[in-house]
Amino acid sequence: MSDTVTMDQIVSLCKRRGFVFQSSEIYGGQAGAWDYGPNGIELKNRIAQFWWKEMTQLHDNIVGLDAAILMHPRVWEASGHVENFTDPLVDCKKCKTRFRADQIPEENLKTKTCPECGGELTDVRKFNLMFKTNIGPVEDGSGLIYLRPETAQGIYVNFKNVLQSNRMKLPFGIAQIGKAFRNEIVTKNFIFRSCEFEQMEMQFFVKPGTDEEWFEYWREQRWNYYKKMGIRMDKLRWHRHGPEELAFYAKDAYDIEYEFPMGFKELEGVHNRTNYDLTRHQQFSGKDLQYIDQDNGNERYLPWVIETSAGLTRELLMVLCDAYEEQKVADKGNEDDYRTVLHFNPIFAPVTVAVLPLMKKDGLAELAQDIRSELKEDFVTDYDQSGAIGRRYRRQDEIGTPYCVTIDYQSKEDHTVTLRDRDSMEQIRVPRDKLSLAIREKMKSYKRV
Ligand code: GAP
Repeated sequence: MSDTVTMDQIVSLCKRRGFVFQSSEIYGGQAGAWDYGPNGIELKNRIAQFWWKEMTQLHDNIVGLDAAILMHPRVWEASGHVENFTDPLVDCKKCKTRFRADQIPEENLKTKTCPECGGELTDVRKFNLMFKTNIGPVEDGSGLIYLRPETAQGIYVNFKNVLQSNRMKLPFGIAQIGKAFRNEIVTKNFIFRSCEFEQMEMQFFVKPGTDEEWFEYWREQRWNYYKKMGIRMDKLRWHRHGPEELAFYAKDAYDIEYEFPMGFKELEGVHNRTNYDLTRHQQFSGKDLQYIDQDNGNERYLPWVIETSAGLTRELLMVLCDAYEEQKVADKGNEDDYRTVLHFNPIFAPVTVAVLPLMKKDGLAELAQDIRSELKEDFVTDYDQSGAIGRRYRRQDEIGTPYCVTIDYQSKEDHTVTLRDRDSMEQIRVPRDKLSLAIREKMKSYKRV
């Protein structure tokens, strides 16, 4: 058994089993962009649904939003992105490689030498990460518009709309899942850092002075979220932003980091953003964004914001890395001794139940199809009748299917089937009419071994 996984193993599995493909692959690929295949989109949707339920359904005071990607350009002036959303950049004059100045050894910066080829580096310059495009028919710059680099601003500009339309009272939150775009200079490590990605953000508006207690509350909530997902908690840690890292407007900030194959890296941020965002949007829009506190003599103030900001596509990578295992399961001296298995929590698995007739003939395939139709109502199912049964189990293990139902000759006689558990590979016989219930119970009591 191997506990460590390499990014190459993940990339290879993702392509082989339809989780993630390179964007525009037949044209040589588009850097910084990825396509989610049949299994990838199922996995991504399940993570998004889990987050959404956790943040909205399980919190009485959080509502959802789906703001447009294209926003008024003044939004990004108010937010500070036009001025400050930059990376320091250097180019090699010889090999033309572009680097983030803060990610190459200090010595190379000092001596202006390329870490790849030893060529001369340019001076450091600021590079804005926002993608610019043009809206409307004229391309004279008057239709300048940005692709949003974060979903958070869509929440701030709708603060008053949500407050009034849903008669919200502080403290309350607005949650949103959506695409964000950043012209990242370095996009290595697969989908970890891409130019087009998805975020799951929640902005929690609180009364000034109560921010510290809500900040701690949200740190605890977000930590417990990963526990509930079933992630190996020894792979997670907190990283507090030091003075040089902390955004100038933030009072405090922590990242939750996961130990990816390339080391501990940021997964999500929990930020105390003060009242910076609403103050700026009030200034730039000229609209009064204050909250009127009817429970406190109609006191008016701008709420403070505690933000939880996670990457959906980055969480998907974490779930894959966390679940991946190459396991020795036999000792016959051939390739069948090993299996690749994704130990997904069943609630995230792209397929929950695979239905496999032992043989195609003798009515087993028809019976299996019939059983699949029954299971379809309750679970995402797959059906596979081709190849040796052992190979079919391996294929399901590789995409993390937690349960396989096998229909054999005995099934025809006594209306029972076998139910195979992905992790233990144990099989039990279950009456057909108790199958749904048995799967449901297994899902409920699932624990990663
Ligand atoms: N509103 C705050 C904000 O956007 P951030 O730390 O820049 O904060 C939040 O981004 C999360 O979004 C990160 O923790 C990460 O999970 C995800 N993220 C950011 N840039 C990304 C990229 N280029 N590719 C994939 N995910 C990214």
